[in-house]
Amino acid sequence: MESRLRGGYARAMDKRGEPSLPAGMEDALRAHGRRFLELFPGPAPRLFFAPGRVNLMGAHLDYNGGTVMPMALDRGTFLALRPRADRNLVLASTLEDERLAVELDALPARSAGRWFDYPLGVLVHLLRSRPEACGGEVLFGGNLPIGAGLSSSASICVGTAFAFRALWGEPEEPMACIEAALWGERSWVGVQCGIMDPYAVALSRPGHVLWLECREARHEHLPFPSGELAIAIVDSGVRRELAKGEFNRRVAECQEAYRRLAPRAPHARVLGEVPAEVVEQAARELGPLLARRARHVVDEVARTAAARRALEGGDAAEFGRCVSATHVSLRDLYEVSVPELDRIVELASAWPGVLGARLTGAGFGGCAVVILRPDALAGFREHVERGFEQRFGRRPPVFFFRGDAGPRELA
Ligand code: GLA
Repeated sequence: MESRLRGGYARAMDKRGEPSLPAGMEDALRAHGRRFLELFPGPAPRLFFAPGRVNLMGAHLDYNGGTVMPMALDRGTFLALRPRADRNLVLASTLEDERLAVELDALPARSAGRWFDYPLGVLVHLLRSRPEACGGEVLFGGNLPIGAGLSSSASICVGTAFAFRALWGEPEEPMACIEAALWGERSWVGVQCGIMDPYAVALSRPGHVLWLECREARHEHLPFPSGELAIAIVDSGVRRELAKGEFNRRVAECQEAYRRLAPRAPHARVLGEVPAEVVEQAARELGPLLARRARHVVDEVARTAAARRALEGGDAAEFGRCVSATHVSLRDLYEVSVPELDRIVELASAWPGVLGARLTGAGFGGCAVVILRPDALAGFREHVERGFEQRFGRRPPVFFFRGDAGPRELA
């Protein structure tokens, strides 16, 4: 496993000096292209990959104006795409039975509560300023668990924008893809998500975490010591239908907390800038629920800054402590954990060589991320799988990954 962590990218480099595709992905993507041809016989499609992401620090801070530290995963969405001479669009997926066939001049007026709302929302946005654009046939697929806190939705949305812009002969512009992805998720699908996910998918670099200051949308790439720190992801297998509603509720609670705190913190433009002592002074007035939400946010702001200092100072143990403290706060103050995720974090934390563990993404199910020393990998998977099985009667998928770059086309 260690050699995979250190050497998985001995592959062709693309023009940005980044690996063209994660190891093993090229074959999988070509196989995806063959599936496309079974569904849509004709000339070979163009093949694209867009990564998922994991967030290491800055939990639920993006929509509170704080800073986040995500990384792209070497797993993600596959897109096989072929242009059409007319203005018809067909969206299909290897993961879903239902497909959408529609004319670009007669796009639906609103989302349908189906999987294809994600790519469709992106296309609705892009097509507004491209009245002459050609249609196409697309097959989506990939190797990212869906709805598991690894940003499968941003991966699909950014990938859709990237692939169609390439099809229409437009230059690679990460910001245009980010904008279209955000519009699709917020205005079409209706999730009031922050900016982190599409930024992470579109702008990540291997061997780095993205340091994204969300209020200003300013980013930089911080080196991540992949040789010294391994990252594991454990999927709790829990998927909550109410996640969207609960997520939007957290956003609304934070807005309300900020509205009440703002008169006491005139310099704070967002909840993430309210000083911790102001939250404490106003706790009674906020009431217990909003006080818990606000405490998580201001503590997480401080913890994320501490995590950066730890990373830059080479203090892996301190970095891991920050990650674990985030889980406690998400569990007790933000209340977005579930027993399965708490169990994974508890099991992982008991394993020698594990430095930190937390749920990642929005919560309410999905995955936990674990930071560990590479020499702790042997036996880790079995330990977590067995411990989880004793309580829940099934084994959770565990995988190891390394950071990846943004969306790409297979040459
Ligand atoms: C979801 C949202 C993100 C972010 C995270 C929590 O993934 O899409 O914008 O808020 O939850 O950190």
